Amino acid sequence: MRFLAGCILHGNSNMAIHCSRTCLQYLIHLAHDNVDFRLPEIRSLLSLRGKSFDPCENFKEKSPFWRLNGLSEEDVNSIMARTVCAKSAFELWGHGRTHSELRTSLLKYPTENMSPFLQKDSTYKINVYTFNKTLEFEDRIKKIDAMEYLSFEGRVNLKNPKHIFCLLEDYGTDPNNIPDEPLYIYFGRWIADGQRELIRSHSVKNRHFIGNTSMDAGLSFIMANHARVKAHDLVYDPFVGTGSLLVACSHFGAYVCGTDIDYNTIHGIGKASRKNQKWRGPDENIRANLRQYGSEKLYVDVLVSDASKPIWRDGMLFDAIITDPPYGIRESTRRTGSQKDSVKPPEDYVGDSHVPVSMAYHLSDIFTDLLNFSAHHLVIGGRLVYWLPIYRPEYCEEMVPLNACLRLVSNCEQTLSSHTSRRLITMEKIKEPEPLGHQAARYGAHLSPSLRAPVHRQTHLDSITSLITFPIYVTPFGSFPRCYCFCS
Ligand SMILES: C[S@@+](CC[C@H](N)C(=O)[O-])C[C@H]1O[C@@H](n2cnc3c(N)ncnc32)[C@H](O)[C@@H]1O
Repeated sequence: MRFLAGCILHGNSNMAIHCSRTCLQYLIHLAHDNVDFRLPEIRSLLSLRGKSFDPCENFKEKSPFWRLNGLSEEDVNSIMARTVCAKSAFELWGHGRTHSELRTSLLKYPTENMSPFLQKDSTYKINVYTFNKTLEFEDRIKKIDAMEYLSFEGRVNLKNPKHIFCLLEDYGTDPNNIPDEPLYIYFGRWIADGQRELIRSHSVKNRHFIGNTSMDAGLSFIMANHARVKAHDLVYDPFVGTGSLLVACSHFGAYVCGTDIDYNTIHGIGKASRKNQKWRGPDENIRANLRQYGSEKLYVDVLVSDASKPIWRDGMLFDAIITDPPYGIRESTRRTGSQKDSVKPPEDYVGDSHVPVSMAYHLSDIFTDLLNFSAHHLVIGGRLVYWLPIYRPEYCEEMVPLNACLRLVSNCEQTLSSHTSRRLITMEKIKEPEPLGHQAARYGAHLSPSLRAPVHRQTHLDSITSLITFPIYVTPFGSFPRCYCFCS
C-alpha cells in the first residue's frame, strides 16, 4: 500500500509498479567465519521457500556482501529468521566503487521505493559499518553528513527509530593490506538481523550435558539449515552422542530422536567431561539439554543401538538424518559383533550361538551403512547431512561416498590441520532404493578409497578427533574450552 501511494504520487505506470516491487535488490551481509558453509546454507533456506539463489553480476562467494535478485522482503525475512551465517539484510538502495558512484546510484533509485521510509512523521537513524577497517567516531559522522543529498524528512532517533539505514564499506578481506579508501560501498534500508545470537545462547560451554565431541553450536545450526529441518519434521541422529544436533533441530521445531552405541552417553551416566567434575550429575542427559532451551516437548527418545545394525522397521521414517559419525581415537569406531564370527562352535553343535563382542567399525563401512540407511529411511526430498573426515593430500571429489538414491547437494570443507579436514556433506533423497536384498543394497554405495585407510592415513584421520574435542576447564571466572578454535 505504501508503495502504491508512492507510485501514484509520482505518476508511474503499472509496468513500473510491477518492476520496482519485484526488481528490488537485497544486500546480505555475511559473517566471515565458516565461509565455505554460507552459500549452501542460504541456498537451502531459499529452497525452503521455493526460491532459487539469484546473485547479481560479479558475485564473489568469499565476499562478506552478496547482492541478490528475485526475492521479496518476506523471503529475506524468512532467511534471516534462520541463518547463522548471515549477520544482516538490507533493501539495497545504491552501491558503487566510490562515494561518487554511490551517490549517482542512490539518486537513480526510484523515489517511490524510498519515500515511504523518508517521511516527515517517521524517525530514523543511519549506521556506518566498515568491513576490515575501524573508523573513528568523527569519520563516521562525516560520512553520514555527506549523505545529505538523500531527502530524509523524518526526525533522527538513535534509540528507537522506525527505520534504520546503513552505509556499508568493504575494505577487502586482507587484514595485512587495508586500503585507505573502501573497495566497494553500499547503502540500504535495514530489514532484519540473522540468528548469530544462537551461537552464544546455545554455546556448549553453558550446556547442561556435554561430552568430549559435543558439536559446536554454530555448526549444529548450520547442519540443521543445510538439512532444511523445519517444524513438525522427524529428525534422526544415528551417532547422537550428547545430542547437540538434536538441540539445533528442535530449535527449528522438529521432533528429534537418536541412537548411540554408548550406554553411558545415552543414559547420561559415568565420567563427566567437565574438568572440575568427576561424575555426571543425576539429570545430565539429552532430554535435559532440550529442556534447557525450552524444546523438551519435541524430544521423542534416544536408544542404545549400533548404527551398523539398524533397528528400524522398513520404509520411510525420517524427514532428515543429521549426524557426526565417530572418526577414531576418543570415541572409538566400534560396532557390535558376535563371537561366532571369530570363534568356531564345536562341529556337533546344532544351535545358534551369540556372544556379543565389540569389533572394529571401519570408516568406509560407517559411511556405506549411513548412506544406505538414509536411502531406505529418508522421505523423498529428505536430506542427509553428515561430516566426512578427510586426509587432505589425497582428497579428490570422487572420494565422497555416493548412493544412487541420494543426490549430492553440497560439500563444504572445514580445515583442521595442514593434512586433515572434515567435509560437511549434504545429500537429498531423490528415489526409492531398488527392492534388492538388504546385503546387496548395503554394498551399493560407492566407497571412497581414502576411507579404506592404510595406516598412515588412518593416523591422520584419527588425529581429527583430537582436533575437534575440547575439554572444558572451569575456573573461578567461568568455563572455557581448552581448544575452542581448530588449530594445527
Ligand atoms: C562424534 S560423536 C557424536 C557427537 C555428537 N554429535 C554430540 O554432539 O555429542 C560420535 C558418536 O558415535 C558413537 N558411536 C560410535 N560407534 C557407534 C556405532 N557403531 N553405532 C552407534 N553409535 C556409535 C560414539 O559413542 C559417539 O557418541
